Amino acid sequence: MRYGIRITDFHSHVLPGADHGSDSVETSERQLELLNGAGIDRVVATPHFYPSDVTVGEFLDLRERCAEALRDVIHPGMPEVILGAEVLVCRGLEEMEGLERLSVEGTNVILLEMPFGEWDESLIETVGLIKRRGLTPLMAHIERYEGNPIGRLFELGVGCQINARSIVSRRRRSRLLDLIGEGKVVALGSDIHGADKSCARDFMKACGLLKDDLEPLMAETDVLLAGAKVI
Ligand SMILES: [Fe+2]
Repeated sequence: MRYGIRITDFHSHVLPGADHGSDSVETSERQLELLNGAGIDRVVATPHFYPSDVTVGEFLDLRERCAEALRDVIHPGMPEVILGAEVLVCRGLEEMEGLERLSVEGTNVILLEMPFGEWDESLIETVGLIKRRGLTPLMAHIERYEGNPIGRLFELGVGCQINARSIVSRRRRSRLLDLIGEGKVVALGSDIHGADKSCARDFMKACGLLKDDLEPLMAETDVLLAGAKVI
């Protein structure tokens, strides 16, 4: 723990072959080394789940095979890896069989990605219904959706994740720091795809920019991940 607290990357694409985030075990190994170098102690692997493309069962079978391949190369000094998914929200998602199995393993937290473009009210209702189903939605990279009614998600009482890189950008920084200060953002992610050094470097920069807000933010993340299973 180089920051004196546990640092968690809640959004990453580091499972070899699970999606376009990593094409091989070697790439995943490099990604984890880069994230480790950025001071990250724990990574939630969140491969994309597109409801129109695969069933939950197919997705989980593939994810398990990818995790198995990764287990072989994980060594001490690498971040811990926890399995999750980045689930694209579509109308009716709340009724999908097995949805809860896409939660971060050992928790009821589900990372949800809103579509690009304009949201209609039914998508916001879907998020509310997922919450009513007993899951804890965490909205992925909420800073990406300028122009959409993000406030409606806050009204539902769901937490948000932002990509660390967005804090590094001066244009968005003060708004994002405000959201973190207000407790609306409860997790930070690298959203790393490929062995992208800049992603890890930006995560580290963001931790520095957060200053006194880093510890309470990571404490919120710890609450979300209580009981999470490490691979
Ligand atoms: Fe992602």
